[in-house]
Amino acid sequence: MTCNATCTTWALKEIAHAGFHQSELDSETQSRTTQIRHGDALGDLIARAAASLGLDKSVFLRAAIEREASRVLEAASRHVLTKDDAARFASALDAAPAPTRARGQQRKPIERVSCMPTEIGDLRIELFDPARHDRAGFACGVDRLDNYLKLSAKKQQKDDMTRVYVAVEDGQAIILGYHAINLGIMNVDELAKRPRGAPDHGELPILFLGQVAVSISAQGRGIGSILMHHVFEKACRIAEEAGCFAIVLDVMSDGGEEAFKRRQGWYADFGFQPFASTPARMFMTMKQVRAIVGEPAEAG
Ligand SMILES: CC(C)(COP(=O)(O)OP(=O)(O)OC[C@H]1O[C@@H](n2cnc3c(N)ncnc32)[C@H](O)[C@@H]1OP(=O)(O)O)[C@@H](O)C(=O)NCCC(=O)NCCS
Repeated sequence: MTCNATCTTWALKEIAHAGFHQSELDSETQSRTTQIRHGDALGDLIARAAASLGLDKSVFLRAAIEREASRVLEAASRHVLTKDDAARFASALDAAPAPTRARGQQRKPIERVSCMPTEIGDLRIELFDPARHDRAGFACGVDRLDNYLKLSAKKQQKDDMTRVYVAVEDGQAIILGYHAINLGIMNVDELAKRPRGAPDHGELPILFLGQVAVSISAQGRGIGSILMHHVFEKACRIAEEAGCFAIVLDVMSDGGEEAFKRRQGWYADFGFQPFASTPARMFMTMKQVRAIVGEPAEAG
């Protein structure tokens, strides 16, 4: 069985009446079609659920998919500490701030230099501007990261869901690398000792690093490290202005175990460490971040 997920604006209004989240997409041109293959049982389930709301199946599917996609993205930037995680996080909070290897301390803070000299010329980190920056040929070796930049970054940034920063050679438009960050939450109810100033509800603000990637042709020349330093600088600024306790990221497993380990090692060199419950999820406390950036231990 095949369902065609296309729909009209009037039908989306129906979704709102039925209590569904009104999509921003209804202001978009309805130009794309997604085909979903499924069996009879799922087909019946979809048909019955859509009928119970008095909706066209395609309208129902679109709203359901959008809702699930939002839920997954939100879950990705929320971390609930287990007891083991809490122990690791608490000892990191107490530990002297020392990145495991020198990589984290090699680079100058990127935002204090408007233009960073590198092997391939002067590098700039700029807020992604889809009208100006050329992302068409970007290829880092991981399709998901290429597709994010080409297909999702513009909309996510427009919706204020994330901020995307790109590395370009001074005066050039071609994107050599990028990172994407958004705010997240870490539930620290498991922490034996609540950090000073932490709110009663036990949720601490974190900066979530969603993506970081460098074009294959530019890899191994320090651009990834410069992008990471830009993230550290941002975290310091956010911590100072709105509060931020740690940077959290998910290490991608695309390309298999070896690729995963290489990425994990790259992040560990900056000082990130894995959560006990989810080794693919890594964190770094602001104390460590400030030490790398060279800022005083706490915002004054
Ligand atoms: C990981 C990545 C962002 C590093 O950027 P970079 O500009 O190559 O990094 P730098 O030049 O600052 O540092 C080089 C180090 O990166 C690491 N590295 C290089 N290529 C890598 C790769 N494909 N995957 C993971 N780490 C890599 C190595 O440790 C290397 O150190 P070495 O030269 O001593 O071996 C880049 O390689 C990349 O985009 N990889 C593909 C996408 C990806 O895996 N992103 C991370 C998802 S979690």
